Amino acid sequence: MYLYKAYNSCPTAHSLHFTMLFKTKLSSLNIPMKIYGFYVFSLCCFLIFNGVRVEAFRNHTRLLNVSQPYRTAYHFQPTKNWMNDPNGPMYYKGVYHFFYQHNPYGPLWGNMSWGHAISHDLINWVHLDIALVPNEHYDINGCFSGSTTILPNGEPAILYTGVDAKLHQVQNLAFPKNISDPLLKEWVKWPLNPILSPPDEIDPSFYRDPSTGWMGADGEWRVVIGTRIDHQGAAILYKSKDFRSWNRSLSPFPLSNITTFWECPELYPVICNGKSGLDTSVISVQGKDIKHVLKASFNDHDYYILGKYDPESDGYDVDANFMKSKEWLRYDYGRFYASKSFYDGEKKRRILWSWVCESDTAPDAIEKGWSGLQTIPRSIWLSKNEDQLVQWPVKELEKLRTRKVHFKNKRLKGRSMIEISGITASQVTSKADVEITFRVSNLKHAEVLSAEVVDPQILCTQKNATTDGKFGPFGLLVLASKDLTEHTAVFFRVFRIANSFRVLMCADPSRSSLKPFIDKPIYGAFLALDPRYAKISLRTLIDHSIVESFGGEGLACITSRVYPVLAVGEQAHLYAFNNGTQSLSISSLSAWSMKKAQIV
Ligand SMILES: *[C@@H]1O[C@H](CO)[C@@H](O)[C@H](O)[C@H]1NC(C)=O
Ligand SMILES: *[C@@H]1O[C@H](CO)[C@@H](O)[C@H](O)[C@H]1NC(C)=O
Ligand SMILES: *[C@@H]1O[C@H](CO)[C@@H](O)[C@H](O)[C@H]1NC(C)=O
Ligand SMILES: *[C@@H]1O[C@H](CO)[C@@H](O)[C@H](O)[C@H]1NC(C)=O
Ligand SMILES: *[C@@H]1O[C@H](CO)[C@@H](O)[C@H](O)[C@H]1NC(C)=O
Ligand SMILES: *[C@@H]1O[C@H](CO)[C@@H](O)[C@H](O)[C@H]1NC(C)=O
Ligand SMILES: *[C@@H]1O[C@H](CO)[C@@H](O)[C@H](O)[C@H]1NC(C)=O
Repeated sequence: MYLYKAYNSCPTAHSLHFTMLFKTKLSSLNIPMKIYGFYVFSLCCFLIFNGVRVEAFRNHTRLLNVSQPYRTAYHFQPTKNWMNDPNGPMYYKGVYHFFYQHNPYGPLWGNMSWGHAISHDLINWVHLDIALVPNEHYDINGCFSGSTTILPNGEPAILYTGVDAKLHQVQNLAFPKNISDPLLKEWVKWPLNPILSPPDEIDPSFYRDPSTGWMGADGEWRVVIGTRIDHQGAAILYKSKDFRSWNRSLSPFPLSNITTFWECPELYPVICNGKSGLDTSVISVQGKDIKHVLKASFNDHDYYILGKYDPESDGYDVDANFMKSKEWLRYDYGRFYASKSFYDGEKKRRILWSWVCESDTAPDAIEKGWSGLQTIPRSIWLSKNEDQLVQWPVKELEKLRTRKVHFKNKRLKGRSMIEISGITASQVTSKADVEITFRVSNLKHAEVLSAEVVDPQILCTQKNATTDGKFGPFGLLVLASKDLTEHTAVFFRVFRIANSFRVLMCADPSRSSLKPFIDKPIYGAFLALDPRYAKISLRTLIDHSIVESFGGEGLACITSRVYPVLAVGEQAHLYAFNNGTQSLSISSLSAWSMKKAQIV
């Protein structure tokens, strides 16, 4: 859940300086009338689910004649207006459901409701009517984030946070009006809401985002809710026999003093030595070990930690030290917040969604008529070393791949670059999927890194794409204008620390746009691989205003938002570059232009 922030459209820290600029810009902007105009048309969509043809009639509103260089081609977006947290994704009777925090009336935060869309492949979507709107005393100030849980009788339940008439956060339930309808078009709020109100010692402004439920060994449901206890981020555990009446569990869940508040907590199992996902309630799998992921959103990022959950005592033993910020892992080292995962029982995988907010300003959002994206849904599983998660775009995305460029074993000398062209005639690389693998040798020449610099984001900022080195910077320049006035660099550097090597992955959008007032932070992460034995790979999804990168086959992810003004449409170029002094080789490159997803 995200509460209102004055003049930018994102929770990520903007300096006061920027806020002042936004204010000035907002008041001095004479926004042309046309951007307030919308037209409405009706559309009939057919989807085939389990052989059943389903018709979804929709009234659609479209933006009136506004140039939209930043709307995406294959990332999920509502037709217009504000979107933030993913809510309650699930697979139900052959249909993927996706809900999201939405302002149906404007491109800025407000009027928080649950938008709803359905899909049969997680890529093409049909928007349905809003599922939950704030209209009861217990949610009159907003229907905020929550989750869905499929109950033993097969019925899905939404558990969400409402902000009531007193501005207290409470938890509420809603059920489908007709569980035979696989589209679950209408939802009915439970008459006994709110089912949970903040306990006395909990600040009613910090009590939100219930997780998906899981069933313990005693047959009772559990959920966790994000909060703060003694000024520390925490999750409160609740138990229920029937999912409707709940008691707080006495087993204390971990606290962490590296943050003052947790949002959107989740607890779910992952299997050791396999890529399959597990349903939330699974506590053992024959012949395999399992671990539990505890995830929370705080300090503008999504963190997780691995541990052992004891279903009898509800204890959670973390593998690492909770009180040390560097022990927490991150899903994504870029722009990525308030994520939510779900178990896809059809394909036996766990899928992660996340909000990617804008990096432009509130006046820009008003001009565009919309704000906020979701990542491409990612499959997630435990790494071979069992010490972190691995993420990869769902396989279904590959159906959108069209014209392909491919080559193997190409030498990339020091201080050189090659253009990757010919994917399509037009819209060359505004929407593309690129996979590149590098091979480095003679690592004895690698730059030495003093062990003091441990924060990869600081290292990427100090050694950004313009800073030369030995092995690196090498990688991709995406959404680049021909003369490179605009470009976003996604790149690696290899360092030596004593007798080992470290691979740094960076995303540097600092020269991505000539447009003023854009927030362009440089992000970084270390890749847990040894470049002596493993190739260094990068997959980057490019989609107009989002660049989503997966390093080391999903060991580290970095997402950025960019707003080029020169590098749009046919003027967007793609390069592989090496600005280090050492040469290396591209073992293989495959780049595809992407078709537009059908999101209607
Ligand atoms: C949209 O606006 C542009 C520039 O204002 C104009 O050239 C174009 O003709 C308009 N298109 C339509 C369909 O109204
Ligand atoms: C909320 O909706 C009302 C219309 O119901 C609208 O007047 C108001 O501007 C909206 N608020 C925001 C922040 O969009
Ligand atoms: C419930 O949904 C089913 C399947 O779509 C439909 O056949 C039935 O008429 C619906 N019932 C009501 C009361 O709308
Ligand atoms: C909650 O606690 C009360 C009092 O201890 C007990 O009677 C009730 O059964 C509990 N309910 C659940 C759902 O555990
Ligand atoms: C957090 O707790 C740990 C262990 O109790 C302590 O060492 C550390 O100083 C605390 N950090 C902060 C910021 O309070
Ligand atoms: C990039 O690095 C150079 C020096 O290495 C520095 O002068 C410049 O400010 C950095 N750029 C950004 C955007 O941090
Ligand atoms: C590569 O290095 C040169 C010289 O330092 C610099 O001018 C150029 O901007 C660098 N290229 C990129 C993509 O940063």
